Amino acid sequence: MEHLKKQNILVVDGDHSQISEEFRIVKRSLLLNAFAKGEAAIPNGNIIMVTSTQPEEGKTFCAISLAMSMAMERDLTVLLVDADVAKADVLKRMGLKAEKGLIDVIEDETLDLADCLLRTNVPNLSLLPAGKKHKLTTELLASERMGELIDEIAKRYPDRVVIVDSPPVLANSSASVLALRVGQVLYIVEADRTREEELKEALSMISSCEHINLLLNKSRFSSGKKKFSSYYGYGYN
Ligand SMILES: Nc1ncnc2c1ncn2[C@@H]1O[C@H](COP(=O)(O)OP(=O)(O)OP(=O)(O)O)[C@@H](O)[C@H]1O
Ligand SMILES: [Mg+2]
Repeated sequence: MEHLKKQNILVVDGDHSQISEEFRIVKRSLLLNAFAKGEAAIPNGNIIMVTSTQPEEGKTFCAISLAMSMAMERDLTVLLVDADVAKADVLKRMGLKAEKGLIDVIEDETLDLADCLLRTNVPNLSLLPAGKKHKLTTELLASERMGELIDEIAKRYPDRVVIVDSPPVLANSSASVLALRVGQVLYIVEADRTREEELKEALSMISSCEHINLLLNKSRFSSGKKKFSSYYGYGYN
């Protein structure tokens, strides 16, 4: 937790910092979609891909913060999957190491998914590391075995939310392939940096997913009034 706090990433301690409050809002609409019933139900709605247009826009930061925020929910378990195989940052950010992960389970059918999952000191948060680097990552992510794994993860635990940290859409074709499998996308837009033309192009490349939510990250805009944190008063931030 200390390691994450140093990077300003949200941690599970129920505080009322601005970032905690912002992620409370972000997660609420994703959770409504994830567990919608009847006609509003979204296939694989509980599988949420986090992506963006270009590198460094804040995907991993937001994926971990969202996972932490969701893990604070009482009736929910959260699995954070690192699917950015080329730049597998999730474990590094969390100060953890692992040998096997997603790519190994896809490639080796004798390997059990459960054996690659990492528990954390947050009781309802587990991790699936990216696994070894592979030249055919996109093909592996597009494979039938990956589809089966996603279905297994989504259906075996109906109270589970799966957050998938993914590569940027314009970097390679992995994100477009993953968009076919997930129910929702949390799309990170970096304030003052993400270019509109590129954003439009990237969104069209993941349009196979019908539920794409944009998150404006790293915004420096201030209306003059502090949102949320001032409400809770001095000493809580
Ligand atoms: N909302 C935020 N507040 C503070 N720092 C942030 C925020 N979002 C991102 N950062 C910082 O910006 C840098 C890039 O973020 P991050 O690594 O999450 O981006 P990324 O999109 O996952 O990049 P890549 O495509 O290279 O994996 C990191 O140093 C991260 O800590
Ligand atoms: Mg990243």
